[in-house]
Amino acid sequence: MTGRPYIVGNWKMNGTRAMLSEARAIDRAAARHPGVDVGIVPPFTLISAMVEAAQDMAVGGQDCHAKPSGAFTGDVSAPLLADTGAVFTIVGHSERRALHGESNAEVQAKANAALEAGLGVILCVGETEAERDSGQAEAVVGAQLDGSLPTGEDAAARLSVAYEPVWAIGTGRVPSVDDVGAMHRAIRAKLSAVYGEAGAAVRVLYGGSVNAGNAAELLAADEVGGALVGGASLTAESFATIISAAAALAEA
Ligand code: PGA
Repeated sequence: MTGRPYIVGNWKMNGTRAMLSEARAIDRAAARHPGVDVGIVPPFTLISAMVEAAQDMAVGGQDCHAKPSGAFTGDVSAPLLADTGAVFTIVGHSERRALHGESNAEVQAKANAALEAGLGVILCVGETEAERDSGQAEAVVGAQLDGSLPTGEDAAARLSVAYEPVWAIGTGRVPSVDDVGAMHRAIRAKLSAVYGEAGAAVRVLYGGSVNAGNAAELLAADEVGGALVGGASLTAESFATIISAAAALAEA
């Protein structure tokens, strides 16, 4: 693992007020491991309540609009997210790219808007199974980064990148530790080419079927600075195990 770990739970379209007790238990796990940065990303509807419940973890959004305000029914802008108490947002998740047709240019505009509003950004990239099978994985991820990395001055300072192979999300399948390390090295090289020295500090998270059983192994891969966790972040029991695995690696 590289640097101070960042473990982020993406609740996707799950989470009612009844799950706030789970969030409080995750917050207590974060408090027990001060060497780990913990983030939690509930649906928009739960952000304010989660911000009130959280003492030791950061609360973020799952997406934001590229414009600060306007006639965009159903959308949420970065300044609105910041107003709820969210301190960062995911952009470019593969479910947004695939199900909402988001292009690299749109994702980049969203990332820039989030930074402009003072939020941190987790930019997601990742190849499909067909792209990996045809040997295109690094080229595809490289092109996603070229097209969607934020461009503003100091962009790297509040940026993390999450490498999430599409075929590993929610499937229980994960790449080999060697493949994770190779992709993370390629991402690091791209970040350094784009941002110079500042690119070295950008945390690169792995995401896709991370769970309590495989987290330690995946987090130990080269250039991995944390994890973006979906399903296994929905219960404090499994998510706390992932947080402690990161803490143990950071202390080792
Ligand atoms: P998963 O989701 O952990 O359920 O595979 C990860 C993600 O989509 O961020």
